[in-house]
Amino acid sequence: MKVILLLLLFIASTEQSPTHHEDEIGIGNHDIAIVNVMGDFEVNDNGCPDKHDHHYNLTRSCLELKEKYHFTKDGVHLFITSNGELYQAFCDMTTDGGGWTLIASVHENNILGKCTTGDRWSSQQGGNASSPAGDRSWSNFATFGCTEGATSDDLKNPGYYDIKASDISIWHVPNDTPLSSWKDAAILRYHTKTNFLQQYGGNLYQLFHQYPVEYNKGKCPDDNGPLSHITYDFGSDEKIQQLYGPLSHNEFEPGYVQFRVFNNEKAALAMCSGVKYNGCNSEHVCIGGGGYFPEASPRQCGDFTAFDWNGVGTHQSWSASKEVTEAAVLIFYR
Ligand SMILES: *[C@@H]1O[C@H](CO)[C@@H](O)[C@H](O)[C@H]1NC(C)=O
Ligand SMILES: *[C@@H]1O[C@H](CO)[C@@H](O)[C@H](O)[C@H]1NC(C)=O
Repeated sequence: MKVILLLLLFIASTEQSPTHHEDEIGIGNHDIAIVNVMGDFEVNDNGCPDKHDHHYNLTRSCLELKEKYHFTKDGVHLFITSNGELYQAFCDMTTDGGGWTLIASVHENNILGKCTTGDRWSSQQGGNASSPAGDRSWSNFATFGCTEGATSDDLKNPGYYDIKASDISIWHVPNDTPLSSWKDAAILRYHTKTNFLQQYGGNLYQLFHQYPVEYNKGKCPDDNGPLSHITYDFGSDEKIQQLYGPLSHNEFEPGYVQFRVFNNEKAALAMCSGVKYNGCNSEHVCIGGGGYFPEASPRQCGDFTAFDWNGVGTHQSWSASKEVTEAAVLIFYR
């Protein structure tokens, strides 16, 4: 269905501008007639602009779609990068005024697989000091997954590096939740409103170039990366405390999101979602990372690193709860 939709859109696009198609590459202005195409797809009911005609130019983000064409409902839309690549993304058009583009999800497909297949946000090639940055997904142009599969697999779309944003929003959604229920099923939803991304190049791709997610590039806590306060849309500091193991509680402060922290053994973790990490056992709370975690290697290597240190989902000692271990982390930009 998606392939057909894209083909139809391409045809529509080509027919409308046969003469200067080449000139358009990189400009991002593709005036596309979508009314009949979209009308055939029930799932796109919620994607139609309110009180407007159905002609619009493709945009680079949900924020642009909201500001230029006044879309107000959550749903999946087609976007175009500055280089002319087309992709689909989910828009949250309601949280705090909307305009949030889903650009990634971090999903743990098998917590017992230690840097094995599916650990795209760390390494799929085993823990090895000779590959300190692992798969490098935080700082490269690789893309994977699809929007509807964001709670069943990892997702990274071109928006990750293409969109210029100021803030991020995070939803922790139970694995395998269907798209239409993400918002209601989320165990936590929060966003920043500090414009912090502007200081680091406008997206995580740029931020992680300044703060490489790489083993042995720094030490805890002196070299830990930037952080921002968060505002809860669903959840609280108490809820965050409840999700992680009791021994972790003294090491973090809820109410933040922090990037690129190191642990005691100089392994690099990509993102501490919901907390500021003060201690040095961050592998039980922070997610994603480089390609090598020295402690009991490869036991801490993976997308949800060592959430299972004292048993999977046991919520004992350092182990995180089953609830957070089995929830994908959805990342939005605005
Ligand atoms: C699409 O972009 C073109 C070129 O900038 C502009 O002339 C046209 O008005 C735009 N259409 C819409 C619906 O915004
Ligand atoms: C780590 O990588 C090196 C170099 O590629 C290789 O020789 C070594 O066998 C690897 N170690 C493990 C444990 O896979």
